[in-house]
Amino acid sequence: MSLLDTIAGHARAGTLYGIGVGPGDVRYLTLRAAGLVRAVDVVAFFAKRGLEGNARHIVAPLMEQGRHEMRLEYPVTEEVPVADASYQAQIADFYRRSADSIAAHLSAGRSVGLLAEGDPFFYGSFMHMWRRLERDFPVEVVPGVTGMSGCWTKANVPITWGDDILSVLPGTLAEEVLSDRLTRCEAAVIMKVGRNLAKVKRAVTSAGLLSRALYVERGTMDDERIVSLSACEQARGPYFSMVLIPGQGRQL
Ligand SMILES: C[S@@+](CC[C@H](N)C(=O)[O-])C[C@H]1O[C@@H](n2cnc3c(N)ncnc32)[C@H](O)[C@@H]1O
Repeated sequence: MSLLDTIAGHARAGTLYGIGVGPGDVRYLTLRAAGLVRAVDVVAFFAKRGLEGNARHIVAPLMEQGRHEMRLEYPVTEEVPVADASYQAQIADFYRRSADSIAAHLSAGRSVGLLAEGDPFFYGSFMHMWRRLERDFPVEVVPGVTGMSGCWTKANVPITWGDDILSVLPGTLAEEVLSDRLTRCEAAVIMKVGRNLAKVKRAVTSAGLLSRALYVERGTMDDERIVSLSACEQARGPYFSMVLIPGQGRQL
């Protein structure tokens, strides 16, 4: 048994693990996350229809042949707007069915590790399983390096200095709301940029922050791309994309 398995790989029967797998580079998994990925009876992960699943892709180097995997495939993703009642009904039903499938394994005494990109408790789908299962089953959440932490590290920009306040904003907000919030920001991270990229760029520009803004695509992954937002001409980015606005607080 390897040192990793000995110190970090103990999985208890009938327990759900929310495993934060970090921003993309497998070397940024914590010891506990890597140990559990190898130790749990069932490795579960969310995936878009027809795709491998981002979290599953991140842990690929740790997965041996013959593992019991549980793919939880979203019935819809971008085809239907999030605000649409039919989207919400389909996703709620999907989460309920997914929680039932996980519960069946837990009731049978198997440990289940549900992979979560970045940190499980930070805008993670894992939270929808946690909410449904934590009253009835033991759950351990393993924190992960967040996507934003991986991105500002690879962009080589300290994000907050001195008393800077950091605002984390979803790029899904309306342009005026985003712009208004940004006007009052010292440092900011804009998540969920993807198809909102053009709108996000307009909001950053109208808040007077374009010269400080960086655009990071697939931070820490093999095909990472980091450019100033002003140089970014495309109207949309991939799912893994964010904008960083570093603070300018006290630098002694
Ligand atoms: C649903 S949130 C999940 C956040 C995740 N739980 C975390 O801790 O970072 C997904 C958003 O995180 C951002 N993100 C996460 N990892 C990223 C990465 N490696 N590079 C760029 N953006 C990333 C993107 O904005 C993406 O749309």
